[in-house]
Amino acid sequence: MTRILFVCLGNICRSPSAEGVFRARATQAGLAVTVDSCGTGGWHAGEAPHPPAIAAALRRGYDLRDLRARQISREDFTRFDHILVMDRRNLADSLALCPEGGTRPQLFLEYAPAFGQEVPDPWYSGDFDGVLDMIEAASDGLIAALRGRGRACP
Ligand code: 4NP
Repeated sequence: MTRILFVCLGNICRSPSAEGVFRARATQAGLAVTVDSCGTGGWHAGEAPHPPAIAAALRRGYDLRDLRARQISREDFTRFDHILVMDRRNLADSLALCPEGGTRPQLFLEYAPAFGQEVPDPWYSGDFDGVLDMIEAASDGLIAALRGRGRACP
C-alpha cells in the first residue's frame, strides 16, 4: 500500500481537492493507495474544504464534503511514501520541517509539467476549475509513475 500526502497552505482548497481527485482516479485505476492531505498552516484545522472548492469538485464527480483540515506534522515525513506540495512556498515550509531520512516533499506539477511548476492558490484567484484541471493531469501523471514502478519492481 503506497501512502500519499498532499500539502498546501490552508488545507481547504488545493490539497483537499488533490486528495479527493487522486483517491478517485487511483481507485479507478486499481492502485492500492492511502491518501491524505494537510496544510503547512493551522488556521483552518478542523474545517471542511472551502465551499467553492467543494462545489467545483462535485460538478466533476468528486465529493470533498467529509474531509477536514489539519496541519502538517514531523511524523508525516515518516508516515508517507510521497509528499506532493502545490507551490514553492509549500515546498520551502515543508522542507524546513522534514527530518533527516524523511520523505522529501516534491512539487505535484512535476507530474504534469505542461501546466508549469505551481498550482496557484484559488483562495485568491477564484479559479477553482483551473486548479482542478491541473490536479487531474498531475494525478494521472503520478498514477502512471506509480504503475511504472510497480511493473519494474514486481
Ligand atoms: P489552500 O488555500 O492553501 O489551497 O487551502 C488557502 C486557504 C486559506 C488561506 C490561504 C490559502 N488563508 O490564508 O486562510
